[in-house]
Amino acid sequence: MEEVVFTSNEIGQPLLQWYDRNSRSLSWRPSPSPYATLVAEFMLQQTQAATVEPYYHRFLSRFPTLEILAGASEAEVCSVWAGLGYYSRARAIWRLARMVVERYEGQIPSNPALLRELPGVGSYTAGAIASIAFGVREPAVDGNVTRVIARLFQIAGNPHKSVRVRNQIRETARRILPERRVSDFNQALMDLGATICLPIRPRCGECPLTTHCRANMNGNPAQYPERLGSPSIVEQTHVCAMIRRENGDLLLCQRPNSGWWASMWEMPRAVCREGEGVYEAAVRAGIEVVGMRLTPGEVIANIRHTVTHHRIQLYAVAAFGEGDPAPVGCRQIKWAHPDQFTELAISSPQRRALKVAGLWTSPE
Ligand code: ADE
Repeated sequence: MEEVVFTSNEIGQPLLQWYDRNSRSLSWRPSPSPYATLVAEFMLQQTQAATVEPYYHRFLSRFPTLEILAGASEAEVCSVWAGLGYYSRARAIWRLARMVVERYEGQIPSNPALLRELPGVGSYTAGAIASIAFGVREPAVDGNVTRVIARLFQIAGNPHKSVRVRNQIRETARRILPERRVSDFNQALMDLGATICLPIRPRCGECPLTTHCRANMNGNPAQYPERLGSPSIVEQTHVCAMIRRENGDLLLCQRPNSGWWASMWEMPRAVCREGEGVYEAAVRAGIEVVGMRLTPGEVIANIRHTVTHHRIQLYAVAAFGEGDPAPVGCRQIKWAHPDQFTELAISSPQRRALKVAGLWTSPE
């Protein structure tokens, strides 16, 4: 297919005009310091802007500078991140802060290649930080921008599967960058993707770029980009045991440092096997995770939670434990009083179970 070539102004002018009137008002936009931009972009890697807002404020009020973040403990950073999910990002931003202090005296670099050497920073995050915080002419191509560019230029092929297609989209995004206002331009593409150029029913009638959009002109914008065959939903039942001491302490265990809820704290938990009941699974959690023989009692909470394409039904069951616990299937165990829970990085479904059980004393 013949290549469509637009000058950057042909796209930039209508897009920036649209952005001036329609940009989303997001907390990190008015004063995009390198550190604030870094925090926002890490949070936005897998989470929508509206969800990020309260976490962004909480994180910055607890760690107002990169040096303070670098001086905190990993556990503290994870506990402030708790609720946002994808905790590998929390650990990565903490390691990044320490590396920036060591290598660059606390100054976040503006060069995209140097940014990409930092933990948790891929080409998208490097482009976002370089362009938004420093005005460097670098594209920032996330899922939304991929969709906008694939439609504008009617780029065939599946960007989820093909490096060649991803590179083509990225290089196209680079080519249309204007000389000035690159931060606004990149964020305008993001906003356009988030609000107008929607995956299923794009609102082409409201789009400032309809007359430039190849896929729209050919009447089939929603067919671009080619989609990842959506993975089928997997249903799982998880059971956790609420084991308490007479003084009210609850038995928690720390998860391995990889996989879902990596390094976070939770009540001993088992994933139900085919045909296994809630009580049997609670007994198995006792044996396999904390080496205890349990007598399960009532179901205290029943929570629904989604992780990637897994739909989880979590039952929290009160249980009486015989003998002393041991970390047989976890990193470590501890008896924690409900007053301490907010200081611990407890996985989000288990936090919700603790709230239902009335054991979460903090207001948030
Ligand atoms: N998604 C990722 N970064 C973003 C930003 N700066 N503005 C809006 N959406 C985003």
